[in-house]
Order: sequence, then C-alpha cells, then structure tokens
Amino acid sequence: MNAPWKHGSGMRDPFHAFVCDDHSLDLIRGIVQEMGWPIEKAYKGGLRNAVQSLSLSPSPNVLFVDLSESGDPLNDINSLAEVCEPGTVVIAAGQVNDVRLYRDLLASGIQDYLLKPLSADLVRDALATAQSVFLAPKPEAGDERPHVMVPVIGTRGGVGASTVATSLAYLSSSRGKRSTALLDLDVHFGTGALAMDLEPGRGLTDAVENPSRIDGLFIERAMVRASDTLAILSAEAPISQPLITDGSAYYQLEEELRGAFERTFVDLPRAMLVQHPHLVHDANVVVVVTEFTLASARDTIRILSWLKANAPQSQLMVIANKAQAGIAEIARKDFEQSIERKIDVVLPYDAKVATQAAKLGKTVAESGRASKLGQAMLELSRRLDGETDPAADKGASAGKAGGSLISRLLEVKLPKGGKKKTTGEAEPELVGN
Ligand SMILES: Nc1ncnc2c1ncn2[C@@H]1O[C@H](COP(=O)(O)OP(=O)(O)OP(=O)(O)O)[C@@H](O)[C@H]1O
Ligand SMILES: [Mg+2]
Repeated sequence: MNAPWKHGSGMRDPFHAFVCDDHSLDLIRGIVQEMGWPIEKAYKGGLRNAVQSLSLSPSPNVLFVDLSESGDPLNDINSLAEVCEPGTVVIAAGQVNDVRLYRDLLASGIQDYLLKPLSADLVRDALATAQSVFLAPKPEAGDERPHVMVPVIGTRGGVGASTVATSLAYLSSSRGKRSTALLDLDVHFGTGALAMDLEPGRGLTDAVENPSRIDGLFIERAMVRASDTLAILSAEAPISQPLITDGSAYYQLEEELRGAFERTFVDLPRAMLVQHPHLVHDANVVVVVTEFTLASARDTIRILSWLKANAPQSQLMVIANKAQAGIAEIARKDFEQSIERKIDVVLPYDAKVATQAAKLGKTVAESGRASKLGQAMLELSRRLDGETDPAADKGASAGKAGGSLISRLLEVKLPKGGKKKTTGEAEPELVGN
C-alpha cells in the first residue's frame, strides 16, 4: 500500500495472504508456490486477522487480503493502514462488484481489487504486478510531476470535439514538450488514431474486456506513439457485439495515465457522461465544444449544469467551433445569453484546412497551423496553459486577469524547462507544490 504510513523496520516477508474460503486459499497457495514464496504465509482468515497479525509483525512486501467478511470494507482498510508499514503493496479481493467501492479502495492506496470467485490467471497477474510495483524505484520526494486531465466533450455529434481533442493533445506535446496522452473513449467510432494516421491497435478494447490487466506495463504496451511526447490509446472495437463494462476500466485507465503522463486529453463522448459520470470526477479542466445552433445551445446548457454537479472541482472552457460569419442559427451574443456565460474561444469554419488535415493524417493544429483555424487552436492551447490573458480578449471569460488556467488555478508546477512566454508580460502567478 502506498499510503503515507509510518516507517517500518525489521525483515519483511515477500508475501502474506489472508483469505476467507478454502477454494481461494488452495488457489493462492498454488500460485505462491509457483512464485517461490513460503506457502505457510497464506492464512485462512479475512481482514480482521490481517490487522491482528500485522500489528504484531513486520509487514510483507505484498499483502493479499480478502474483504468478503468485512461489513464496511473501506473503513476496515483504513484500520489495516494503521498497522501496515509503508511500501507494502496490497491487493484486495471481495464479492462486491461496485465501481465506487473499487475507486475508493484504489484511492485509499490499494493496488488492485479482484472480484471473487478468484481466477488463477488474474491472481497470478495481480501478484506479479504487485511485486514489480514493490521493486520499482520510488520517486524522490519532490520529484512527482503534476498531472492535468482535460476531458473534451462535444455538445452535439460532429461539432468537432475530436478535432479539438487531437489538436490540443498535439499542441501540448509539441509546444511544451510535455509527455501527453490522448485517451479516445469513443471505443467504437473514435477518430483519434485516424486523425494522426495511426492504427489504434487492440489496447483499449483489451482494457475494457479485462480491467484487471490494466497497469503501468499494460499502458506502455497498449499505447500507440504518435511522437516522443505524444501517445494515444484508442480502439476500433467491433460493432457486432456490445462492450460489456461497468466503467471501471475507463476509470482505471485514467488513473494509470495520471501516473505516466503530464497531460491527459480525454475525447469523451457525451453519452459516456450519462453512463459513467465518475470519468470527470478528477478532471482539472473540462473543454466543452459547441457550435452556434439551437440544439447545441440547449445541450450546452444541460451539459454545463451537469458538469456543475458532477465536476465542481474543474475549470470549464466553452469553445464554439465551425463558426461562420453571418450564417449562424444563433448569434454569438444570444448564444452566450442563453448559456449564461461567455464563449472562451471561437474556432472558425474552414473546410479546406479540415480536409487537408484528414488527407495528411495530421491534426488540424499541425497541418493548418498558418490558417485562422490553426491559430485559433493555438490560442486555445495557450489559454489552457495560461500563456495568454483571457481578459485581453473581449470575448473571453475563462479566468480572471492574468489567467493561467491550468498552472494557476490547478496549483500545478511548471514542467522542467518551463514554458515559453508568449507575451512581454510578467510571469503569471504560479503556485509550486
Ligand atoms: N472548424 C472546422 N471547420 C470545418 N470542418 C471542421 C471543423 N472542425 C471539425 N471539422 C470537421 O467536422 C467533422 C466532425 O469533426 P469531429 O469528428 O472532430 O467531430 P466530433 O464532435 O468528434 O464528432 P462525433 O460526434 O462523431 O464524435 C470532421 O470531418 C472534421 O474534419
Ligand atoms: Mg468524436
């Protein structure tokens, strides 16, 4: 468990297990033997026995604990935390199939949660991962890199959410040389990989089908590299069969990306919000892409209000895409009035640039960098990074004067090397951790 627990001493065993039923005990003992660990350290008994035992002896490197007999697993895990020494990697198992519990357990420092009845393959994988986590070099204090997660949501189909997500990911990775991930959660029809002329591979589909496989190594293998600093995880899942998931895989992917990258842009189809609201619970900035139509105004209102309730911690940016002078269903002013906020950035309609980008297999921001659309994308990316002052733009409202959307509001440290200043102004306020 990686929770900030008290420092321990003494010789540690490689492994202890506390399991409630004979089937699980036999299964674990078999695997423990394969791994060369002492089988007598796999005990019958649940979490309570684990707490008792660990209060008397040094904690093992890896601890497997069965929560089946626990009435309040989260609370009991906390009592385990009080007796367990830092560095111990804990895998829990139980019969409750609930994504919220799963999420809370991970947040409390558990490495993985396996659903019972246990399968030998899953336990083997989980123990191998736990061991490699234990052996992996720990980051030096103060060496952690801040992570920023930016879901991009389109208010209607085809408004250009994927165009914006891919362009922002490209700009984040190329301008600031920040290690950037693009997670395309449109698993059946996503265009993230296509926009960068890449094959999506099976990574995301595998993750959804087998959430317990998701870990750092999995991410490394499953992600497709677009450049040294940009990697993408997407899928073209078969449309002949539905993907059965409770959403835990998506959440776990976000968790892993958080540890592995400085920025994650999530192409988040709006239908996913309805199914899996927890996907925005840890978002730092949410980019809502809309257009000047009646239907989009209605859904912008609904989505903004939903975000207020479900992602109160995040900053919002509202982007109007495909804007054409004189032929909007709703004028900008009326649109802003009806959504009760200003549009942060307007992206002009430019079919030529969009077509050229598709033909070249490059993002609009890259292939159309000289165009007005490309420049507006750049402005959006700078605005997101707090490099330009939204107050200087009459139409903008993203933040307060000096607007450093990510770095100031999110208390984020600048990556090593710093950012390039684009104005002659003083450095925006930055809060270091
Ligand atoms: N500013 C623009 N000007 C012209 N065409 C654009 C612009 N932005 C996006 N497009 C084009 O609009 C189409 C839809 O864009 P995109 O796939 O990004 O939308 P989306 O919101 O992700 O759609 P979906 O609902 O299918 O996920 C694409 O062909 C894209 O090239
Ligand atoms: Mg899309």
